[in-house]
Amino acid sequence: MKCAAVVLAAGRGRRMNLDTAKQFIKIKGFPLLYYSLKAFQESFIDEIVLVVSKNETDYCREEIVDKYGFDKVSVITEGGKERYHSVACGLRVLRPDTDYVFIHDSARPNIREEILKRTFDTVVRYGSAIVSVPVKDTIKTADDEGFVTGTPPRSSVYIIQTPQAFEYQAIKKAYEALLQKEDELTAQGVRITDDAMVMERFGDKRVKLCEGSYTNIKVTTPEDIELIKLYL
Ligand code: CTP
Ligand code: MG
Repeated sequence: MKCAAVVLAAGRGRRMNLDTAKQFIKIKGFPLLYYSLKAFQESFIDEIVLVVSKNETDYCREEIVDKYGFDKVSVITEGGKERYHSVACGLRVLRPDTDYVFIHDSARPNIREEILKRTFDTVVRYGSAIVSVPVKDTIKTADDEGFVTGTPPRSSVYIIQTPQAFEYQAIKKAYEALLQKEDELTAQGVRITDDAMVMERFGDKRVKLCEGSYTNIKVTTPEDIELIKLYL
């Protein structure tokens, strides 16, 4: 069984408000991206594809991949404008005999072996596995003017994290279909924010949740820095 990871590091980290893209900021002496690569390197994953911004390929190879000996990284490729473009770039370079692909945001550095194992067990059993935790707060939906339009029952709402794992051919096909329909979706104002959405809309597999962790946070805004230092 062949498992690959697509690690996304082609964003700009605008909500972080720093000059450096967040995947390269130093946390406890290492760039943020180091932690996800290390987790996959030390796991059962056979191959890692790293997706980075234009002109950052050499930097990532020299200063991260080679420097820390991440020899499971087989390809460092350039991403695109939106996250889903970057995922599509990563999926395209994987070998056709890949069985399962784990798509992961490098902005989530605190992934542990037990999460990867649970994701693996779930994807083998159901064909998909997205890491999630139950919401602790009450969730409301609201309209553009800030008036509440509904309250989904708390037991039916989850916070979705990464990794998100799928059968490789199935998610690849779903992404190709998404790219065909991209203009239509943009016109409808639909924003694709995770991989499961692509499977839900364009794939032929149901998406299965599996248990993540409340400490598997995505470093997104400045206050996340102190938290992630604590968790790591
Ligand atoms: N990502 C990517 N390619 C893009 C956009 C995002 O590879 N075109 C990656 C980011 O590097 C990050 C992950 O997708 O690891 C999750 O995205 P997000 O947290 O939104 O990161 P950024 O897009 O970098 O941040 P922001 O939205 O604040 O600009
Ligand atoms: Mg973003």
